Amino acid sequence: MDFLLIVYTIGALVALALYKLASFMWSRIASPLRHLPGPPNDSLLRGNVEVLQKEEESVPQDRWAQQYGHTIAYRGLFSTRRLWTVDTRALNHIMTHHTIYQRPLPTRYRLSGVVGPGVLVTEGKQHKQQRRIRNLTEIFTGKSNQLRDCWLEKISKNGGASAQVDALSWLGQATLDIIGRAGFGYEFDALNPTGEINELSEAFLKLFATPPRSRRLFSFLQLNIPLLRLIKTEENHKAEQAQATMRRIGMQLIREKKAAIMAETLEKGREVECKDMKERDLLTLLIRTNMSTDIPEDQRLTDDEVLAQVPTFIVAGHETTSMAVTWALFSLSQQPDMQRKLREELLQVATDSLTMDKLNALPYLDAVVRETLRHHSPVPATTREAFEDDIIPVDTPYTDRYGRTREYIEVKKGDLVFLPILALNRRKEIWGEDAHEFKPERWEHIPKAVASVPGVWGNQLTFIGGPRACIGYRFSLVETKALLFALVRAF
Ligand code: HEM
Repeated sequence: MDFLLIVYTIGALVALALYKLASFMWSRIASPLRHLPGPPNDSLLRGNVEVLQKEEESVPQDRWAQQYGHTIAYRGLFSTRRLWTVDTRALNHIMTHHTIYQRPLPTRYRLSGVVGPGVLVTEGKQHKQQRRIRNLTEIFTGKSNQLRDCWLEKISKNGGASAQVDALSWLGQATLDIIGRAGFGYEFDALNPTGEINELSEAFLKLFATPPRSRRLFSFLQLNIPLLRLIKTEENHKAEQAQATMRRIGMQLIREKKAAIMAETLEKGREVECKDMKERDLLTLLIRTNMSTDIPEDQRLTDDEVLAQVPTFIVAGHETTSMAVTWALFSLSQQPDMQRKLREELLQVATDSLTMDKLNALPYLDAVVRETLRHHSPVPATTREAFEDDIIPVDTPYTDRYGRTREYIEVKKGDLVFLPILALNRRKEIWGEDAHEFKPERWEHIPKAVASVPGVWGNQLTFIGGPRACIGYRFSLVETKALLFALVRAF
């Protein structure tokens, strides 16, 4: 009897899974995206994904645009069609209608706990953010100088003339330290010559480690088939342990910060304002805002929601910036004239600890950072899933598969949309024939067409746009400048 029950249950689960798979496949096959032109399918399982992974993302996309037009559909995993467009009106529509176009569910599962409602607390408060980042600049310059000194020490140990360093790895340690200190007043101490890492760094590394090759397929299936998440792999167990460590340390930090805010409130006899607080990391500011009496009780974040911000900021704000600085150093190493020009500008500054305003007043440094982020966008693309049927307006009509001219794109609930950040940033129609070259000088006279780019910053899509744009971009810009200032001046 028990045996029969097990067989029936398994049978029912398999039937349910097959039904779900069939209805998913049918909805994808019937998607109106089938009317769009696009490259032929390369593989039933992987669609055109391999070609995107083999080359720099924007290169095959550029080829597609030339061959099939600026609004096309390519094939993703299991041959499902994805909308790819560089039409700026269409992209603006997608990014501003953030309730229709959300992060795909598998991405959300992978980042679960990463994007919490607390992120919204800081949205729209741009002026305040600016003031906060001014306060954080000291941390950026301090850590940048510490990195410079680590490299100087390596050179001196190597005989005093030169040394070989893995720039991306060192910069990753520096930006981890910066986000720890500036984000939540925590010292990762990753920038240390012994290479030892502390408990939280270790937990973080485990949480985001790539599974071994043999288990990658199963991890991928787990992302897409929720039922499989009931089976726990070694990676799942490790991730759970790491999450528990992060939770313990995060909760401890939250308790300490709350106690410090309470103590300051008691000392002053009134609610403390951000400007007169001793600790000004982002987590303290978030907790303070949350404790403020003008926020209604039902709109306050729980400690868990506040805690969700810790990995959010580490993930979103750490490798992106180290990647940007590494690309800047790489590009400058290829262009000695530009490197010299930048160094000359930086050497005119007498101190090695600049304020945010002084860093922002260096014009060539600004142009180098803008050009790096345009030409080597650390996040080259992102995706959205349509949670409702929709009609997307376009700026420039396109021709569909049957030769008809279309003035809008039709999408069905469940369709995936690709936001081609790098491809748009390098588009010749916007930036001119030299769009694929690294040229900071272009920022002295930018073409009129760039005004149509719907990005939150710098006429580029690097930090995307709309309500879910990067909230750390000002932080990252000053941090990137501080790191380049210290390194290009010294080496
Ligand atoms: C060069 C550096 C950076 C780049 C290129 C970058 C780029 C991006 C992009 C493209 C997104 C949107 C991702 C998506 O929705 O799919 C994003 C979101 C986000 N970024 Fe950044 N980022 C950078 C640095 C930072 C820093 C330093 C922080 C924190 C201090 C940060 C915090 C965030 C957060 C919290 C979100 C999620 C916003 C939301 O969902 O509402 N980022 N970033």
